[in-house]
Amino acid sequence: MTIQLPGTDRGETERLRERIAQVLERARGRTAGLTDCLDEAELVAQHSRIMSPLVWDLAHIGNQEELWLVRDVGGREAVRSDIDELYDAFKHARANRPSLPLLNPGQAREYVGQVRGKVWDVLERNPLRGEALVDNGFAFGMIAQHEQQHDETMLATHQLRQGEAVLSAPAAPTVATPPRGEVVIAAGEFTMGTDTDPWALDNERPAHPVHVPGFAIDIAPITNEQYLEFMADGGYDRPELWSEAGWAHRVEAGLVSPQFWERDGGGRWWRRVFGVMQSLRPHQPVLHVCYFEAEAYAAWAGKRLPTEAEWEKAARFDPATGRSRRYPWGDADPTPETANLGQRHLEPADAGAYPAGVSPHGVHQLIGDVWEWTSSGFTPYPGFRPFPYAEYSDVFFGGDYRVLRGGSFGADEVAVRGTFRNWDHPIRRQIFSGFRLARDLTPEDA
Ligand code: AVJ
Ligand code: FE
Repeated sequence: MTIQLPGTDRGETERLRERIAQVLERARGRTAGLTDCLDEAELVAQHSRIMSPLVWDLAHIGNQEELWLVRDVGGREAVRSDIDELYDAFKHARANRPSLPLLNPGQAREYVGQVRGKVWDVLERNPLRGEALVDNGFAFGMIAQHEQQHDETMLATHQLRQGEAVLSAPAAPTVATPPRGEVVIAAGEFTMGTDTDPWALDNERPAHPVHVPGFAIDIAPITNEQYLEFMADGGYDRPELWSEAGWAHRVEAGLVSPQFWERDGGGRWWRRVFGVMQSLRPHQPVLHVCYFEAEAYAAWAGKRLPTEAEWEKAARFDPATGRSRRYPWGDADPTPETANLGQRHLEPADAGAYPAGVSPHGVHQLIGDVWEWTSSGFTPYPGFRPFPYAEYSDVFFGGDYRVLRGGSFGADEVAVRGTFRNWDHPIRRQIFSGFRLARDLTPEDA
């Protein structure tokens, strides 16, 4: 049965079906690329206690796809009904996952392939219109985003892993003189969140008006060169720059620099990038810092991190129309010219390297390069409804998490938008995280 709704013609639905097939295939190609390059021992090993073995991510990707697309949307028989518990992220802490009777790499590959085979059949027959779970292909988009989110997590596992490099990509674009400074965004209301982006996840909804007092925000992320000034000025040794919790963590974890930085005998800093030592690129946004480091840097600079509402207003608000856009540059999907996304590079590009991606206020690189820490905790928007499952967002609201925005070089465009919300514990820095600064306005700004 094909349901035809007003305003949705056949051709449109067929184009949507093709787009879904394309994003699912792109995700699977990336998953394969991240797992086929390692031998069996490396796939089952735990490269860090805070990460899963890669073979767990692989089968978990297939299991989520089976739960939602094969069983729920498709109403089909289970491919494997005996392994749901093993791949339920809430049942086993990451540290314990290596000791579970997991599918081995060959079995995991076979499993994800069988699930995908059924999904092609489900996709072909689904009307992609009507019921909320499938309307505009939502469940398919959700599962493509889920796979890409785990691909980014697997990429972080690759960064943590010791041993010979197995990934490669062209260097990210450089810039001779990065843009510096800030722009003022006048006080006023804007629309935060979305009701209309068909694949936006539950925590991005609903759209709601937010009055944001006037503020200034940096036009570019903080770079390695800027971060080195903080370090040279004793940033890691001055408790007054850190919050109480931040200083306690700084001491306990022995933080002295961003993660993966190493200093040579001559005092020069290097960065280990997926198993390759690279001399520190001064104009590249600083990467692998935790929230507490970002907060200390901000105190040192006499500024603060932006709130989530400030970040989103800077990224979406168009003062000419009063509308909130999907992206800083407009509503069009990202391209290689507008944002560093999709693991095309294995590093952030220099600050200022994406002039085609600037916002109406002239703010660079809000999308791509590095996830940006905001000062906001992860809380529901007014009128939030868990959809389609509480374990995506709802169970995380109100924890010690901080929201990160904008996506990194390791995030795929299907899983990044001006409204997209990521979150993590303030001590985490294996993620591809950086930051930019903001401040309140003073009488001199008027
Ligand atoms: C949105 C990135 C915080 O990886 O914990 C993956 C995404 N949720 N599987 C995470 C997610 C369920 C989530 N983040
Ligand atoms: Fe997951």
